[in-house]
Amino acid sequence: MSSVGILGGSGLTKLKNLEIRHRRIIRTPFGEASGPLTFGVLNGQEVVFLARHGYGHTIPPHRVNYRANIWALHHVGVSHLIAVTAVGGITAAMQSGVLLVPDQLIDYTHGRPSTFFEGGEAQQVIHIDFSEPYCANVRQRLQQGAEKAGISVHPGGTYAATQGPRLETAAEIRRIERDGGDVVGMTGCPEAVLAREIGLCYAPLSLVVNPAAGKSAEPITMEGIDAVMHEGMARVRAVLAAAVPLLADCPPCDCGMAIGPEALKALHKAPLARKKATPSV
Ligand code: HPA
Repeated sequence: MSSVGILGGSGLTKLKNLEIRHRRIIRTPFGEASGPLTFGVLNGQEVVFLARHGYGHTIPPHRVNYRANIWALHHVGVSHLIAVTAVGGITAAMQSGVLLVPDQLIDYTHGRPSTFFEGGEAQQVIHIDFSEPYCANVRQRLQQGAEKAGISVHPGGTYAATQGPRLETAAEIRRIERDGGDVVGMTGCPEAVLAREIGLCYAPLSLVVNPAAGKSAEPITMEGIDAVMHEGMARVRAVLAAAVPLLADCPPCDCGMAIGPEALKALHKAPLARKKATPSV
């Protein structure tokens, strides 16, 4: 039986339709997560929710402690994780308001701790197979959930992860498009990498909230983004509610095998960070 987690991004710091049972601060070997984990029930299914940018949306993308977030969710037993992200649209199909379940990833981020395995004497060097960055089962369940909820979702797309927090230049977006990027966001990496290292089944559900730089004659404004986000996140919540029960009985897959049982055991024996986590709410 799977245990489902949801990472909320910009526009989704709370899940309105989640019946909250309790919150728990998790200490991790990598420092503080973005906040306490929220345990609750969504459409009859137990889920664990965490707001990636903190419950008050105070943590910018390059400062998110991705390792602590992923380690904490795995530590409480989450096996299947949906990552909600807001993105800019690059290719023609990716107009504002479009929901998609990306199937590929390009990493343009830098300077972010992007592995649980830093090497040295205490740890092995790990090279995971990341040819397919997202879990096929979670992606399929998200699409089935959307269908059930009567909400249209684009069935793929390449997510380009940029460093932020600034938006891109028009030339950067032209380059990303030449590289094959369909949408651009700031949080997709190293989150997806860490999820695979620790063996989580992970997939994004992305909402296009603006045309990427140079794709519209209008400047990109927070007001414009907020308006799309407000309406779009209602659809995201509906897709999540419909998809979560479908995730409960996901068939086994290879996501859990990326690093092997010995390395996984070592990761879980890593000493906890000294400083006690404090809630950000
Ligand atoms: N670029 C990067 N990240 C984003 C964007 C964008 O245009 N929109 C929402 N997140």
